[in-house]
Amino acid sequence: QNTMLQVKTILVVVEIYFPSLPENLLVLTVATEETDGFFRFMQSANYFNYTVKVLGMGDTWKGGDVGRSIGGGQKVRLLKEAMESLGDQEDLVVLTVDSYDLIFAGGPEEILRKFQQANHKILFAAEGVVWPDKRLADKYPSVRSGKRYLNSGGIIGYAPYINKLVSQWNLHDNDDDQLFYTKIYLDPLQRQTLNMTLDHKCQIFQNLNGAVDEVLLKFGTDRVRVRNTAYDSLPVVVHGNGNTKMYLNYLGNYIPNVWNYEHGCSHCDDNVVDLSQLKDYPNVLVGVFIEQPTPFLPEFFQRLLTLDYPKDKLKLFIHNNVSVYHEKDIQKFWEENRNVFGSFKVVGPEENLSQGEARNMGMDLCRSDASCDYYFSMDSDVMLTNRQTLKLLIEQNRKIIGPLVTRHGKLWSNFWGALSLDGYYARSEDYVDIVQRKRMGVWNIPYMAHVYLVKGSVLRNEMKERNYFVLEKLDPDMAFCRNARELGVFMYLTNRHDFGRLISTANYNISHYNNDLWQIFENPVDWKEKYIHQNYTRIFTENHIEQPCPDVFWFPVFSEKACDEIVEEMEHYGSWSGGKHEDKRIAGGYETVPTDDIHMKQIGFDKEWLHFIREFISPVTLKVFSGYYTKGYAIMNFVVKYTPERQAYLRPHHDSSTFTINIALNNKDTDFQGGGCRFHRYNCSIESPRKGWSFMHPGRLTHLHEGLPTTNGTRYIAVSFIDP
Ligand SMILES: *[C@@H]1O[C@H](CO)[C@@H](O)[C@H](O)[C@H]1NC(C)=O
Ligand SMILES: *[C@@H]1O[C@H](CO)[C@@H](O)[C@H](O)[C@H]1NC(C)=O
Ligand SMILES: *[C@@H]1O[C@H](CO)[C@@H](O)[C@H](O)[C@H]1NC(C)=O
Ligand SMILES: *[C@@H]1O[C@H](CO)[C@@H](O)[C@H](O)[C@H]1NC(C)=O
Ligand SMILES: *[C@@H]1O[C@H](CO)[C@@H](O)[C@H](O)[C@H]1NC(C)=O
Ligand SMILES: *[C@@H]1O[C@H](CO)[C@@H](O)[C@H](O)[C@H]1NC(C)=O
Ligand SMILES: *[C@@H]1O[C@H](CO)[C@@H](O)[C@H](O)[C@H]1NC(C)=O
Ligand SMILES: *[C@@H]1O[C@H](CO)[C@@H](O)[C@H](O)[C@H]1NC(C)=O
Repeated sequence: QNTMLQVKTILVVVEIYFPSLPENLLVLTVATEETDGFFRFMQSANYFNYTVKVLGMGDTWKGGDVGRSIGGGQKVRLLKEAMESLGDQEDLVVLTVDSYDLIFAGGPEEILRKFQQANHKILFAAEGVVWPDKRLADKYPSVRSGKRYLNSGGIIGYAPYINKLVSQWNLHDNDDDQLFYTKIYLDPLQRQTLNMTLDHKCQIFQNLNGAVDEVLLKFGTDRVRVRNTAYDSLPVVVHGNGNTKMYLNYLGNYIPNVWNYEHGCSHCDDNVVDLSQLKDYPNVLVGVFIEQPTPFLPEFFQRLLTLDYPKDKLKLFIHNNVSVYHEKDIQKFWEENRNVFGSFKVVGPEENLSQGEARNMGMDLCRSDASCDYYFSMDSDVMLTNRQTLKLLIEQNRKIIGPLVTRHGKLWSNFWGALSLDGYYARSEDYVDIVQRKRMGVWNIPYMAHVYLVKGSVLRNEMKERNYFVLEKLDPDMAFCRNARELGVFMYLTNRHDFGRLISTANYNISHYNNDLWQIFENPVDWKEKYIHQNYTRIFTENHIEQPCPDVFWFPVFSEKACDEIVEEMEHYGSWSGGKHEDKRIAGGYETVPTDDIHMKQIGFDKEWLHFIREFISPVTLKVFSGYYTKGYAIMNFVVKYTPERQAYLRPHHDSSTFTINIALNNKDTDFQGGGCRFHRYNCSIESPRKGWSFMHPGRLTHLHEGLPTTNGTRYIAVSFIDP
């Protein structure tokens, strides 16, 4: 304990003798372009009030592709030129760092203090990997612990010494900078005279290459930084060197103050576009991709129409790869709305475009039209329930940004928080929190699909090539994202709002007439929105239920669409029973009170129907017959057709059920005349059934009833004998 105290005292003394004056630190960085990474670097530098001088902005980069091979000499040349005028300032400390893949996690005072503690004139970043010349490994001084090899992405030193170091440069722009520094460092004489060392234990510089597992985020109240767990240090400069750009992007979602638990997102409202201040809304090309049979496509189009955005500012490009099945939906949408949008182009399956080619075509339509401000790509399985989505994305003002959409009740979403080594899905530590919106913000992520917005200017500059969706054997979206990553264009995902959900297209059986009816299991939310009556929930909130006869309850349950589609489905099937006493479909083969009907089972809808009863009828039963918990079990589930030409009425009878539901599927007076139901015991009739409303009444003993004659037209009802 005594020694601990002593150490602390000494540290304090050191600080007093070497006052850390931030104005004595100058950051020099070479950046020829203002990439997203550069802006991120500057944002962190500005946050800590570093003095930064950018070298080479606007110059042509001739330093080679440092990501893949050697190069970077241009950086040393520019530094050498800059140091010629700075080198005589003895008190000046120069920090020279990369900027595209680097973030500050601490401020200038801390760097200066740590540099002084290192007690050398020049300090290089260190890493565990020798690069670019592996043969030089043995020449390095050995270290007991810590990183042994030099990395030139971060150098700090007194100006005269840095000047002496870089003045030795006489190579070409595309020669390797790191090799240059390595050779000087490995020369024992130079090492001594220039008083150089490496930051072996990541006190200042954290290179992520080979060290991703050593690094953890450390959340503080105002700031987030990284902790190196191998050396228990808090590095100040975090560098995504080598193959760790994506990991740096992940860290950059937090450090230095981008997001934390206390304040949430602190830069989300920086540089936003205020659409209300613009004279005109930007022009957006909307690319719609229907690449596989998709449930609820008419609803998808409806949501597109109800986006809160001037339609004359939207141009539409639709690729439909699903022959026949979706053509009628698209045709209908086109006929009704082609004049609503700025333009409307459909590319159908006859063009035989691959998905990648179609996506290239859509993106290119925006790229080649100078008036196209944004390209908004949307797959048909995206249900944007938030009408503001497009505006919110534009306002966020990023090169590429997508809204979070998730599969209902699942962790499945339209983005990946990390990639595996082979480029496929890997779960990031924050993935679940982002999907569940426990952490809200604008996230830099390595992959997204289904729906995203790209600036037209980006398509005409950084991404001006015409083919980003076809790459090797990759899925088109993976190809696009890989291209964006390699170009250093950040892809952002926002979960600041609830935007909508992803439909499941798996198990979509399109061999029925109205296939969405079968989606009750796969897409329950969309099923409910489409098929359940708008006022159904009011049964529970406002007691929106009637009792026209004793113990006969009457409530809304089906939407118009549900009624119409069930009738269509039955008529499409067409084999009505004819109301005969002999009935092979039931046990015993004899029906005493036969109706002209089709069983749900006959159209393969019995599982779905029983699920509907459990989900939507059982809660009503519990409400009106309190204490009775139905199993929601039924064998007899069928649609009855009454018409004067075939069967017009049904004589008085009991049902073989504990209780019965009877749902009117069409409208009295418009579709038929007559009809209704009479309960004998109570001398009570209901003569004006309402479409989509259901009766619920006991089946036996008390509720002897008859079907009143339909005098004209055709009346349809759906009936279930529940808990027989
Ligand atoms: C940077 O400077 C501003 C203005 O002087 C100051 O308010 C802020 O606290 C400084 N930031 C840090 C991280 O020291
Ligand atoms: C390096 O410089 C420090 C002071 O900055 C000095 O204390 C130390 O002795 C020097 N080391 C060598 C090897 O010259
Ligand atoms: C569609 O394209 C594929 C390859 O792109 C080709 O093999 C096939 O023959 C084409 N089909 C038609 C009908 O043109
Ligand atoms: C979509 O197009 C590809 C070929 O481009 C084809 O292999 C695939 O079967 C098509 N999908 C549908 C549902 O038509
Ligand atoms: C799709 O529905 C048809 C008609 O009901 C049925 O015969 C077929 O087995 C179903 N296919 C699948 C994969 O469930
Ligand atoms: C739901 O109830 C409201 C208020 O009574 C009514 O205006 C509306 O038409 C009802 N919706 C449907 C689909 O019947
Ligand atoms: C049944 O009600 C009707 C009118 O609602 C009435 O005319 C008739 O007399 C009643 N029958 C019996 C048996 O009560
Ligand atoms: C029967 O319905 C048809 C149309 O649905 C209508 O034209 C006709 O007038 C109706 N007949 C009677 C007797 O109401």
